[in-house]
Amino acid sequence: MVVPARATTPADAREFVHSRGATTHVVDYARGEGVREAFRGCDVWFHLIGSIQRLRKDPFEWRHREVTARLVAVARQAGVGRVVFLTALGTGSRANNIYHRTKWEAEREVLQSGLAGALIRPSLIVGRSVGPRDSKLVMRYIRMMRERGRAVVLGDGSNRIQPIDVRDLVECMVRAAERENRNVAVYELGGPEPVAFREFVRRLGRAIGLDVPIRSLPLWLASLAARWYEWTREAPPVTREQVALCCVDNVCAPDSVEQQFGFAARPLDESLATYRTEQDGAA
Ligand SMILES: NC(=O)c1ccc[n+]([C@@H]2O[C@H](COP(=O)([O-])OP(=O)(O)OC[C@H]3O[C@@H](n4cnc5c(N)ncnc54)[C@H](OP(=O)(O)O)[C@@H]3O)[C@@H](O)[C@H]2O)c1
Repeated sequence: MVVPARATTPADAREFVHSRGATTHVVDYARGEGVREAFRGCDVWFHLIGSIQRLRKDPFEWRHREVTARLVAVARQAGVGRVVFLTALGTGSRANNIYHRTKWEAEREVLQSGLAGALIRPSLIVGRSVGPRDSKLVMRYIRMMRERGRAVVLGDGSNRIQPIDVRDLVECMVRAAERENRNVAVYELGGPEPVAFREFVRRLGRAIGLDVPIRSLPLWLASLAARWYEWTREAPPVTREQVALCCVDNVCAPDSVEQQFGFAARPLDESLATYRTEQDGAA
């Protein structure tokens, strides 16, 4: 297995890849350096690139649409057999935020590539399995609850999400890669429990032994704060995307994993229990 790594990819992430017997290959997506070599001899391309984090130096259009379009071209030339693209539940050309709109554009690149494989659209990914990386959202809430003794949700927290355990998601991705469809199949995935965001935060707190008050930040105030942070910080702690996501549900069929991949997804509390051993400072 070859994992492309950028010059900025954290050292602990690379070391983890090596510890599992895979290799990293240094790439520069903007200059196109190392990309062909990384794809050489690959049968399956797991395309995981993407992030909801707003960074001035890394616009969403580049990160999602452009990088995907470039990689699709190289994958085709390299004769890669199949692609499994990890995209996101809620993508659409008219989605209410740029993260979902540019992910949707990236999906078009894959759907029109002529490659066979799968688009996987998960809701929030939760749980810890292996390696140094973690859900940034979950880590932020854990830190907030531990350090401030309270949690703040944007809006009233009634927007519903359907967290899926990272171990179940990976299992679905592997099974999708093994299917022999000739086109690109689309799978929307969530765990067994659609849950209001406020309730999710409450259960996360309980999972780590904290029963803290949960306060609401009105959406108008959250929008103002997002604009301010986006203007003043390279990596803003609150963004317009987060505010937009709190205005819509992010759910699919509760039995989506079982229906499409034939096994029962882990209950939410089992996933949240994996944070009991949370080490401070995880990314
Ligand atoms: N986390 C969730 O709850 C969630 C929910 C739905 C969908 N997703 C999707 O799942 C995927 C993984 O998400 P994650 O939360 O695990 O994100 P993550 O930990 O931040 O990982 C993002 C990956 O994308 C790479 N990346 C980011 N910007 C890039 C750029 N401009 N050029 C090249 N590579 C870039 C990063 O590279 P480095 O290794 O070099 O840092 C990293 O490997 C993403 O596609 C995301 O949209 C996540």
